[in-house]
Amino acid sequence: MAPPAPGTIKHEAMRIEDCDTRTGYTYEEYKQTADWLLANTDHRPAVAIVCGSGLGALGELLKDQVAFHYSDIPNFPHSTVPGHAGRLIFGNLNGKPCVCMQGRFHFYEGYPLWKVTFPIRVFRLIGVETVILTNAAGGLNQDFKVGDIMVILDHINMPGFAGHNPLSGPKEEQFGPRFPPMSDAYDKDLRKLALAVGQELGFAEKIREGVYCCLGGPNFETIAECRMLNSLGVDAVGMSTVPEVIVAGHCGLRVLGMSLVTNKAVMDYNSEATASQDEVLQAGKDSARFLEKLIALLVQRIEPNNNVS
Ligand code: HPA
Repeated sequence: MAPPAPGTIKHEAMRIEDCDTRTGYTYEEYKQTADWLLANTDHRPAVAIVCGSGLGALGELLKDQVAFHYSDIPNFPHSTVPGHAGRLIFGNLNGKPCVCMQGRFHFYEGYPLWKVTFPIRVFRLIGVETVILTNAAGGLNQDFKVGDIMVILDHINMPGFAGHNPLSGPKEEQFGPRFPPMSDAYDKDLRKLALAVGQELGFAEKIREGVYCCLGGPNFETIAECRMLNSLGVDAVGMSTVPEVIVAGHCGLRVLGMSLVTNKAVMDYNSEATASQDEVLQAGKDSARFLEKLIALLVQRIEPNNNVS
């Protein structure tokens, strides 16, 4: 089925100003978006992939593509960040039906977290069982090199410490419990599989495992902040992923998170280095091939999850 031509559908997009007066989407809005997608494509993906900064080329690997611009999808927010194309692509990756977000939403764009995480619940409603979230991150672990891929073992939700949590607000029992656990946020079998697939592809030395810390951004960290995070046991730092992981875990999706180390966090007052978005995007270009290969093989190996109805 051919998707509607870009720009031919006009939906009333929710504006950032409107978010001030709302605390979330209604169940009907999630359902409306899910039903619209199901009506506009025959693909029925079990795996969703969220592409981080500079990692969107993965979407191009999908065969038999049906792609939608975010602005054409009812209720979908719009991506405002360079390196984030803003398309939702359905297709087959290594023969497995997938849906891929080429570009995500961030807190620093001014979106509330319930909006940042909107696509995750839509994925749940269209039948997705597993979500793979990727991001660009600064390496705090001194053993990490630019271009390494960190399989996320666990996270620290720094905005959560200040009360910014995507599950704040009225209870949403259609999706999950009021007080969900997070000690098992990153699926153990998927982590093992990612490490094994990395070995199999011959780049075991690039594959790491570690703790990701999400900060609000948009500025990169100070040296003191990097030193503090490092002393807290953080291996990589970024500005995304954790809100989506929380919402995915809450609604029963299996989660795999992977960070591409695009720069080394500056930890030394004598260093002349500074982090920049150009550096992040360049490293993404250079190393994204590894991550793409890893995800393509991994997706082929993912077994259906009988725990998700
Ligand atoms: N800090 C925060 N976010 C990032 C970084 C960083 O160093 N690199 C890529 N995303």
